[in-house]
Amino acid sequence: MLLSDDTKLVPGSAGHYLQPDNKWVRVLESPAADSSLDALFSQLSGEQPALRSILADHGGLLLRGWAVNTPARFEALADCFLAEQASYIGGVSRRSRIHNNVYNTTEAPSDVVIEQHLEATHTPCPPELILFNCQVAPADRGETPMASFAELYDRLPQQVTKPLENERVVYTRELIDRESVFYRVLPASVTQSLALSWQEVSGCDDFHQACSVLEAEGYEVTRRGARRLRTRCSQPVIETHPKTGRKGWYLSDQITRTLPWYTTLPRRALRSVLGMEFALESGRTLPAAVTDLVHATLQEARFSFRWQAGDVLVLDNHQMSHGRNPFSGERLILTAFG
Ligand SMILES: [Fe+2]
Repeated sequence: MLLSDDTKLVPGSAGHYLQPDNKWVRVLESPAADSSLDALFSQLSGEQPALRSILADHGGLLLRGWAVNTPARFEALADCFLAEQASYIGGVSRRSRIHNNVYNTTEAPSDVVIEQHLEATHTPCPPELILFNCQVAPADRGETPMASFAELYDRLPQQVTKPLENERVVYTRELIDRESVFYRVLPASVTQSLALSWQEVSGCDDFHQACSVLEAEGYEVTRRGARRLRTRCSQPVIETHPKTGRKGWYLSDQITRTLPWYTTLPRRALRSVLGMEFALESGRTLPAAVTDLVHATLQEARFSFRWQAGDVLVLDNHQMSHGRNPFSGERLILTAFG
């Protein structure tokens, strides 16, 4: 069975795991004799149930040393893990489609810290898995830190989590037209990420088609005039993992912390036109002290590694968050999810 043979695992102090002091991410390293994609496929062949249970049990899997060095090869490998590769409809970060449903991870400015988050848990259908592939390893920082949201839940005091067990959070998002004057006068630092147009978020240039696409995704869509719209969807604050039954934090509020402009500009006015708001469905207030505690706890729980070209990181998106450290120079990390 996959990973039952220690010789397949990365040797050294990390043992079977990426980090010696946690058991969140297992590593499958190529044997020196054959690092070809064919050799990797033959290792993974028929192992989908084992892969799924590794991901549920450990949260992540790093494939290292294999020749996953083109977008097409990454797409082929992603097919081994994903039932269906999803598109990025509803995303919050500007991404370029590199190859079919393979994207670059983000075009957010390189000096921005992208906070820990589960992928797209602000959308109606978040992916079960997310994969990353390093095509160009950054020489200076640019790691993709991880932190378990199941561990986060365990670390938070019960007086914080208990009142939130059955709460849902509503994400409301305003999307304006790519051609609007307002959009065009905004600085690039604002429009480069988060403040995306409905065209970018839906992948459609026709307004009515864009509304239909978003409704088909599961959003509640409100048309606001001829060229603006608002989307709403709700998700639990705390989720029970569908395979392990373990509870985990699920709230996605990283966008309110990631971008410097978002916290320095007049927030309410700007968000009401461009951004995303979240609020508890019950109408209760989520105290800032709680989200501050969540983020402080994540700082303690997170861990990272240095990317190597060809690395593929597979994360269980129900429990293992990812982020991005700032970097300088070249960096190209691809992503696929589903
Ligand atoms: Fe992400």
